[in-house]
Amino acid sequence: MMVREPGPSPARVDAPAIRRGRPLARNEILRNGRLGGIAPAELAERFGTPFYAYDLDVVTRQVAALRTALPPVFDLAYAVKANPNLAVLRHQASLGLGADVASGGELRHVLRAGFAPEHIVFTGPGKRDDELAAAVAAGVRVVTVESVGELRRLARIAEAHSRRQPILLRAAAVEAARHERVRIIGDEGAGKFGMDEADLAIAAAEAVASPWLEPLGLHAFGASNLLDAHALAGHVEATVAMAVRIAADAGFALRLVDCGGGLGIPYDVHEPVLDVALLGSRLATLALRLAADPATADTRLLLEPGRYLVGPSGAYVARVTERKEVAGHHVVILDGGIHHVLRPTLVGQEHRVRVLTGVAAGSAAGPGRFPVTIAGPLCTGLDVFVHSGVMALPDPGDLVAVLDVGAYGATESMPFFLSHALPPEIAIRGGEAWVARPRIDPDVWLGWQVGEP
Ligand SMILES: Cc1ncc(COP(=O)(O)O)c(C=O)c1O
Repeated sequence: MMVREPGPSPARVDAPAIRRGRPLARNEILRNGRLGGIAPAELAERFGTPFYAYDLDVVTRQVAALRTALPPVFDLAYAVKANPNLAVLRHQASLGLGADVASGGELRHVLRAGFAPEHIVFTGPGKRDDELAAAVAAGVRVVTVESVGELRRLARIAEAHSRRQPILLRAAAVEAARHERVRIIGDEGAGKFGMDEADLAIAAAEAVASPWLEPLGLHAFGASNLLDAHALAGHVEATVAMAVRIAADAGFALRLVDCGGGLGIPYDVHEPVLDVALLGSRLATLALRLAADPATADTRLLLEPGRYLVGPSGAYVARVTERKEVAGHHVVILDGGIHHVLRPTLVGQEHRVRVLTGVAAGSAAGPGRFPVTIAGPLCTGLDVFVHSGVMALPDPGDLVAVLDVGAYGATESMPFFLSHALPPEIAIRGGEAWVARPRIDPDVWLGWQVGEP
């Protein structure tokens, strides 16, 4: 039986508000104490705890906000790494987005989800021959080449498939305009992503000369989780400027510039929502310039957002198993922890945690609030969601949500640590909830193991 509750649906996107350029403040799964319009206790009873829940209507609104803000020259490819759950992927495909994959496994996910190959882009360091071959065989829109060596391997693979493969060249860094607030724009990772200027020139020349490669343009990722529209716009402008120069020097027509992802979401209550209307208005100026120049009049621009599209759609819900006082300090232990939501520990940034049920639910202010630690069941001091946060105390049995886990939540965690079950992933749309991936008991992977030769 499906759970039906009143709730937002794709048809109720607040398009006029988006058109007026008002950023949608806190478009997220938790609204009025309900998750995607459904009472948390009802979800917990039906699916058990802990669980992840994704409100796909939130995704619809994020996509609409971005699309409405950006000039039409932009295409969007959802960065699958943010959340590869099939329900999320199918939803993105149904909204007409492309997909950005970073491995052969992600490629298989998006093909199964129904993305057309001509809407799939393949980017990422260390692509193996079998992964490149799968992309060429599938006929993906473009493969982003990260080194001269990869370019040569791809040319051989394309020849073996008798296909001319469209490619982008990935720049390790682009030089942002001096007035931008974020001046150094380039991939982190000590050079593992993309090529320097010298290799870009070599790769461009070889691609032009190869009958098996079709150079379309440039790819550059700026920085992750940017909340500053000016910094993002500066990155796009700098990437386009570099692409124009490289294409002109190598003598190919610039058809595509992929500026990566990096559109941020506020994790903290004090952080601003990214002003996509401001981003769009700056990029509209760029789009006009491109359209006016015969060399770029047919150039498409691409963004690969992950976090922005799905982050706020997700919550991780766990139940309080224990509450105690240790040397006068309140400590709450949940039945789930950082093995399922590693990001706060990985990047050192707490996510918002909300009590969903019981007397402490929704009491954000007022008396009866104490410094409290909210932790998971793992045998490591790292397994803490809230360090001395001041809040109303949840009781054993209450439900607690870690918010903003729709991106880099389940997919970026360490689910096998301590052999707890993998929480189910629950998708919600239009007030209907379903199990997108079931709970996986440790007996499943115990059964795969071979303890003796
Ligand atoms: C090549 C590429 N594109 C897109 C993304 C998505 O980034 P975000 O989720 O910050 O938008 C990433 C993130 O690592 C990436 O490496």
